[in-house]
Amino acid sequence: MAANWAPESWTKHEARQLPDYPDAAALGAATDQLATYPPLVFAGEARNLTADLAKVAEGKAFLLQGGDCAESFAEFHPNNIRDTFRVILQMAVVLTYASKLPVVKVGRMAGQFAKPRSAPTETIDGVELPSYRGDNVNDIAFTPEARHPDPQRMVRAYSQSAATLNLLRAFASGGYANLHQVHRWTHDFMGRSPWAKKYAETADRIGEALDFMAACGINPDTVPQLSATQFYTSHEALLLPYEQALTRQDSLTGDWYDTSAHFLWIGDRTRFEGSAHVEFLRGIGNPIGMKCGPSLEPDALLRMLDTLNPARTPGRITLITRYGHDKIEAGLPPLVRAVQREGHPVVWSCDPMHGNVIKAANGYKTRPFERILAEVRGFFAVHRAEGSFAGGIHAEMTGQNVTECTGGAVDVTEQSLADRYHTHCDPRLNASQSLELAFLLAEMLNLEMEERRKAAA
Ligand code: TRP
Ligand code: MN
Repeated sequence: MAANWAPESWTKHEARQLPDYPDAAALGAATDQLATYPPLVFAGEARNLTADLAKVAEGKAFLLQGGDCAESFAEFHPNNIRDTFRVILQMAVVLTYASKLPVVKVGRMAGQFAKPRSAPTETIDGVELPSYRGDNVNDIAFTPEARHPDPQRMVRAYSQSAATLNLLRAFASGGYANLHQVHRWTHDFMGRSPWAKKYAETADRIGEALDFMAACGINPDTVPQLSATQFYTSHEALLLPYEQALTRQDSLTGDWYDTSAHFLWIGDRTRFEGSAHVEFLRGIGNPIGMKCGPSLEPDALLRMLDTLNPARTPGRITLITRYGHDKIEAGLPPLVRAVQREGHPVVWSCDPMHGNVIKAANGYKTRPFERILAEVRGFFAVHRAEGSFAGGIHAEMTGQNVTECTGGAVDVTEQSLADRYHTHCDPRLNASQSLELAFLLAEMLNLEMEERRKAAA
């Protein structure tokens, strides 16, 4: 357990990116209410995820983390949850097949509401209002009432998270995640799309492997592992009053866990030295992530790792790198070398989304699919060269057929961005772009495994 730590010890540190709640009594009422509510996850599940991630750190599993940039109250609908979950499973099947490794599935779901902003206020036509900070803080509409931070929104976010998680658990264990079924969706989905040819071979081989197993008597009726999966949840631990209210002492071990999700991460804007967010995360037993961008110096990273994982527990820390397609090959190696030199056991995961945002000519914030791919390629190249394991991917994606990122085999053009641009924050990969990313990742993982076999021979 962390020394000199308590769930509220972050309040003595510098907290950036938190809203100014003008009514302290209303804030206290909301967090008191949340503190009496049931935990959303059980500490033992968080420990299981740490163990799963330890396998990734060792190169014996692959991490797939994905979901919305920001969940919203407006888009809360069972179909959205189902479709995103389904695409994540489809991606997972392709990645499992390619890597011949178990895939650890983590949703950016059931709690991913709060958003860090580049400025505390936003000015439109001379009117200055507080920035939108996510649906658990205020409303996206540009009016003074909407932008007023309302602590009761945390209670609503909790109940939306609880309902989302409940559905995800039901899907994961109730038969929806049946491997044969998931593959059939991929097959049907590709059958209707023009880009199917490119990936048909991989898809066919997965189908054959399943048929072969079925002929041998290995099917979802005989082997329960084929009909269910383990699905974890995650979000950025940004809104600390909320996270604190859901932080509980585990009755089995006496350790503290943030029970709002299995996995919490710290963003690029809140991971500075002396940060309240670092102080909070240091004391919870959950596995945690840290976003690493171009501004992070190797020495600062090592100090952060010593603070967040002094016991060097494998699986405790996932470093989620987000450099940009043109910066990763120069920026990442110094971090990898420093971490290897000090012997910190970490999971390296690639966020190819956040360093690749551009503004299209018509004003839409977008991400070109080629740049996302280029960053993933750079990520694999760096880890191959450094002898470290390219362990995971972190994607902002949705199961809906949105037009937010340009490119992909079913080409979204700058002109078509306006058709179905629904995100509350950053542009997401749509269902076919997500699946295409998985197929391309599969090719890279295949190569990776081939190299490993050669090296072992
Ligand atoms: N239980 C295994 C796993 O989770 C196999 C599996 C069943 C699976 N359904 C799945 C894998 C859906 C990926 C997606 O890995
Ligand atoms: Mn984002």
